[in-house]
Amino acid sequence: MSFKVVNKLILAKDIKRLDILAPNIARKFQPGHYVSVCPEEGDERVPLSVIDADPVKGTISLIFLEEGQTTTKLGTVAIGESVFSVLGPLGVPARIEKTGTVVCIATGIWTAQILPICRGYRKTGNKVIGIIGAKTKKTLMLEAQMRLSCNTIYMTTNDGSYERRGLATDVLREFISKNEVNLVYAIGSADMMQAVCGLTRDKNIPTRVQLSPVMVDCMGMCGSCRVKVGGKTVLACIDGPEFDGHKVDFEDFHIRIKSFEELDEWRSRKSQLNPKKNESKTLTKFLSDFLKN
Ligand SMILES: Cc1cc2nc3c(=O)[nH]c(=O)nc-3n(C[C@H](O)[C@H](O)[C@H](O)COP(=O)(O)OP(=O)(O)OC[C@H]3O[C@@H](n4cnc5c(N)ncnc54)[C@H](O)[C@@H]3O)c2cc1C
Ligand code: FES
Repeated sequence: MSFKVVNKLILAKDIKRLDILAPNIARKFQPGHYVSVCPEEGDERVPLSVIDADPVKGTISLIFLEEGQTTTKLGTVAIGESVFSVLGPLGVPARIEKTGTVVCIATGIWTAQILPICRGYRKTGNKVIGIIGAKTKKTLMLEAQMRLSCNTIYMTTNDGSYERRGLATDVLREFISKNEVNLVYAIGSADMMQAVCGLTRDKNIPTRVQLSPVMVDCMGMCGSCRVKVGGKTVLACIDGPEFDGHKVDFEDFHIRIKSFEELDEWRSRKSQLNPKKNESKTLTKFLSDFLKN
């Protein structure tokens, strides 16, 4: 099967959007789904959220930050060329129902992942308040699309170069102190989602988050994406990525992320010492080899 790239856009420095022909996935897509993408045979697979799908054209849209080897390679695929494989749709779709006023909050690249969630809640008849944040005006993403998908949006930049200076969570704190909110949906770094849950727990507002631990096989087999939710160990790739934010053990989540970062550091230090042997290994390739041995 050919997963042809039919459109490509550069959204900001190191951030690209690819529209890929994947009719079977486009037909089944629901907000919250992700896919596992392999740019070329033999490359590692990376999990990426499906941002949009067109079942008539048979296309899905992915928006990604060129963070490391695989996403950078994916960013080089040109219109008319194909990626080797796109597996999905994966994960449990977001639980979208009519609840009333829903605040959707995201920062940085995670703004792309909140977009289908905002659309889903709006389509279901909710009042959707979007709060998006970035470090600077240049890195604030998808303003026009968010405006179309939300009833109201608030934007923050850390340096004050656009709209309000400060953090997205500053706006959330203010908003929930003055308005009745029925649900908060947050996607961002572990620190950001933990901060959101701290604010909403005090006000008793149900809160959902999307966790992005390192996923190797995305099939529930390798255990790399284990997270603790409600005192139980679950797998983010098949049981999530959406969870009840108030039940997530963020302390454990931080420890797991940190341990993978340390593995990553160890791997890159090893490759500096012995570049020929390890230079092509990306984090998940390293982990899948590690788990096999
Ligand atoms: C369910 C899910 C949905 C995601 N959706 C998006 C998205 O829509 N757009 C986007 O830009 N990014 C998304 N990500 C993150 C994306 O998967 C990683 O940025 C990507 O895997 C990095 O791979 P790399 O080889 O380019 O970089 P590497 O150099 O291998 O890694 C760079 C950093 O990315 C993280 N990472 C690496 N491999 C994985 C992995 N297999 N799973 C998760 N994190 C990893 C680690 O923190 C690592 O330190 C998502 C992650 C998950 C789990
Ligand atoms: S990614 Fe392997 S179990 Fe979830």
